[in-house]
Order: sequence, then structure tokens, then C-alpha cells
Amino acid sequence: MPRLGFRRSLPSLSLMPLLVLFVAVGAAGKGDGGLRFQREGGTFKVLQVADMHYADGRSTRCRDVLPAQRAGCSDLNTTAFLYRLLRAEDPDLVVFTGDNIFGENSTDAAKSMDAAIAPAIAMKLPWAAVLGNHDQEGTLSREGVMRHLVGMKNTLARFNPQGVEIDGYGNYNLEVAGVEGTLLANKSVLNMYFLDSGDYSTVPSIRGYGWIKASQEAWFRQTSSSLQQNYTGGQPRQKEPAPGLAYFHIPLPEFNNFTASNFTGVKQEKGISSASINSGFFNTMVEAGDVKAAFVGHDHLNDFCGKLTGIQLCYAGGFCYHAYGMAGWSRRARVVSVQLEKAASGEWQGMKSINTWKRLDDQHLTTIDSEVLWKRSSNS
Ligand SMILES: *[C@@H]1O[C@H](CO)[C@@H](O)[C@H](O)[C@H]1NC(C)=O
Ligand SMILES: *[C@@H]1O[C@H](CO)[C@@H](O)[C@H](O)[C@H]1NC(C)=O
Ligand SMILES: *[C@@H]1O[C@H](CO)[C@@H](O)[C@H](O)[C@H]1NC(C)=O
Ligand SMILES: *[C@@H]1O[C@H](CO)[C@@H](O)[C@H](O)[C@H]1NC(C)=O
Ligand SMILES: *[C@@H]1O[C@H](CO)[C@@H](O)[C@H](O)[C@H]1NC(C)=O
Ligand SMILES: *[C@@H]1O[C@H](CO)[C@@H](O)[C@H](O)[C@H]1NC(C)=O
Repeated sequence: MPRLGFRRSLPSLSLMPLLVLFVAVGAAGKGDGGLRFQREGGTFKVLQVADMHYADGRSTRCRDVLPAQRAGCSDLNTTAFLYRLLRAEDPDLVVFTGDNIFGENSTDAAKSMDAAIAPAIAMKLPWAAVLGNHDQEGTLSREGVMRHLVGMKNTLARFNPQGVEIDGYGNYNLEVAGVEGTLLANKSVLNMYFLDSGDYSTVPSIRGYGWIKASQEAWFRQTSSSLQQNYTGGQPRQKEPAPGLAYFHIPLPEFNNFTASNFTGVKQEKGISSASINSGFFNTMVEAGDVKAAFVGHDHLNDFCGKLTGIQLCYAGGFCYHAYGMAGWSRRARVVSVQLEKAASGEWQGMKSINTWKRLDDQHLTTIDSEVLWKRSSNS
């Protein structure tokens, strides 16, 4: 499972056209993600980009910026923010959590998606994506948008599991192997689940947004169980299941179970824009036991993490300029950095902690709200 080549040398903007050529030659293999913890620090870092709402690029206006910022502001500001962040954080994986494009304002949905994701591809970073509720509102259907995404360069996104009847488009999992040359080199030490949380209810008697369906929960349960069996049963046997992270677009109703006293970040929207019914995915994750944190977008003005029944529920906060936001409140993104445990012998082992912070699109890409989301308990 080789890592992608070249990506450690970060390009400058002026080299970008040249780099695109390199990418075409050395693109990552599909399917087998080849994701792995880094030897130097024993870390794996994920950048979550929520709600890019990309449309037509330079001609697409910005919303909710200060009057002085209006002139010359477009989708290209969203692109510039993404390039700055990728250079500053140099993540091991970029995850686009839906509403990647704003279909309604995109003349050509495929071109819009290409432009939205372009910075990750140009920088040779592996990336994953799920759909939001706006991606399909342009020239491509939901199925069409996902088919386009899985055909793009360096993507680790997949259409759906093979041989499984499942609702939605873009339900898949990724495995992150331990450090090369260690005992866990061939085991998935960190599991990532990606789900399509739908767009809108299609049941006339139920209003509002979509939800994760029973077929998706069944797939998640089965996958989680198999991963846990492999980790604790296969050699070298591990005492506890490998921790998991889940990424999807629409928040679960349980995001509403917090007040400012028990979350880190802000809740500035009147409500949580979850589906109006609870399809039970939170309980399913609690029962499965491996997922330690779930990450969503959708509500651009909420950016908090709160812990409920052992699972951290996190927003990323709105990333883009062509969608609602708040003038004077910086656009932002969430970083998750997973850290491995080091044995007395110096060898990297399984997971020690999951850490997070957010980065703001201001002059210094200010880091805020750093916190530990999960830590291996000392008695295990
Ligand atoms: C958008 O980008 C332009 C060109 O770089 C810049 O002058 C402007 O300040 C940016 N606007 C915002 C809101 O960041
Ligand atoms: C985007 O679409 C909305 C809703 O159709 C429309 O009101 C708005 O004018 C469009 N914006 C642009 C920049 O085309
Ligand atoms: C992992 O797999 C590689 C390739 O099959 C093998 O050479 C190596 O010994 C394996 N490592 C462990 C710790 O099992
Ligand atoms: C668990 O291991 C088996 C045997 O190697 C493999 O076929 C299966 O795909 C693994 N499960 C997952 C979810 O990766
Ligand atoms: C979340 O809040 C709802 C409504 O108050 C409550 O019914 C539910 O039990 C809470 N969930 C958990 C896991 O505490
Ligand atoms: C958060 O705090 C509020 C108010 O103290 C309480 O009602 C709620 O149950 C707490 N939620 C969680 C998830 O701890």
C-alpha cells in the first residue's frame, strides 16, 4: 500500500499548471486507498471542508461578507482559502462533506465540481467526498454527481459497496493502516465511514431533510463488525476495536442535545437542520461501539463539538463564500489529527488520541478551539 508520490513537496501557485501534468502521470490507484499513519510523528491528519457551495467560479458572487469585501469576491476566494489551508496543514486526507457545489447556480455541475476539488488534486492529496442536499440541483442527478466524483483524480470516494442493496450514493469506508514496518502495518488502525445522508424527505407526510436509511445502517453495522473482528481476532490480536470516524452532511437530531455549557465552539443557528424524524443512526453508532466522532456540515453558522454517550458530534462550520454565512465571522474548516501510541521500544502502536482544531480564513489562518475528542483510557 504505497503512499502517493510527490505530495511532500508543496507547490507554489505559480507552479500549478506544471503540477497538474505531474498529477496526470502519478495519480493514486483507486479502491485501495493506501492510507497509512506517518512514521515521523505517528499521526494521520484529516482536513474537513464543509459546504463549498461552488458554482461558476469568478462570475459567482459572495454572500454575507462585509460591504468593503464585496467587490472582487467570488468562488475564487473559496479556492484561495482551500489552497492556503492545504499548504498550512498538509493533511493526509481531505474530506469534502457535501454541498460541494451549489447546483442551482452551476451552469455545468461537472465543471463546477472539478473546479471545487481542483486544489486537492493539484496538490496531489488523496481526498474523499460525500453528497449534501444541494449537489444534485444542477445539470447532474445525485447518482450522476457521485459517478462524476468517483471518476476524478486522486479520489478515494466510492460509489457504493458492491453487491449490497443500499439507499443513496457514496456510502463507503476507508481503512488507515499502521506505520510501515511495525506490527500493525497491515491492520486498519483507524476506520473511516462515509455515508449519504440524503437531501430531502420523499415521504409526503414527513417534511424536511433526508436521513440515513435502514439499508445504510445495516451496511455500517456489518462493516463495523467485520473490521472489529479483523482487528481483535486476526494476528497480531488487539485488545480493543480500532476507533472510527464517521463523515456525512446532515446533522443527526442528537446534535440538538447540547447547550453552550457542554460543547466547544458556537451554535448560532436557531435550530439544528436535521431530518424531522430520528432514523436511529446515532443509536446504531453507539451500539457498534467503534465510532468516536461524527463530522457533518450543512449548518454553516454552527461549528461546535459536543460529546454524547461516548461519541463526539462535530460541525466543521461553513467554508465558502457563495452561501449564507455571517459578515465579519470568518469562513472556516475543521482539522482532525489522530495520534498513535508509542511503545517503550519506540515502535508505533494503535491509537492514542483524536485531536481537533479549526482554522479561520483570516490573515494568519488562525487556529481556534483545539481540543482532545477521544483518548485511549489508561486502564485498557
Ligand atoms: C477575495 O479575493 C480577492 C482577490 O484576492 C481579495 O482582494 C479579497 O479581499 C477577497 N475577499 C475576501 C472576503 O476574502
Ligand atoms: C443563485 O440561485 C439563487 C436561487 O435560484 C438565485 O436567487 C441567485 O440569484 C443565484 N445567484 C447567482 C449568483 O446566480
Ligand atoms: C505486511 O504485509 C507485507 C506484504 O505482504 C509483509 O511483507 C509484511 O511482513 C507484513 N507485516 C506484518 C507485520 O504482518
Ligand atoms: C476482514 O478480513 C477479511 C479477511 O482478510 C476480509 O476479506 C474483509 O474484507 C475484512 N473486512 C473489512 C471490513 O475490511
Ligand atoms: C437527546 O435529547 C432528546 C430530547 O430531549 C432525548 O429524548 C434523548 O434521550 C437524548 N439523547 C441522548 C442520547 O441522551
Ligand atoms: C448539556 O447541558 C444541558 C444544560 O445543563 C443539559 O440539559 C443537557 O442534558 C447536557 N447535554 C449533554 C449531552 O450533556
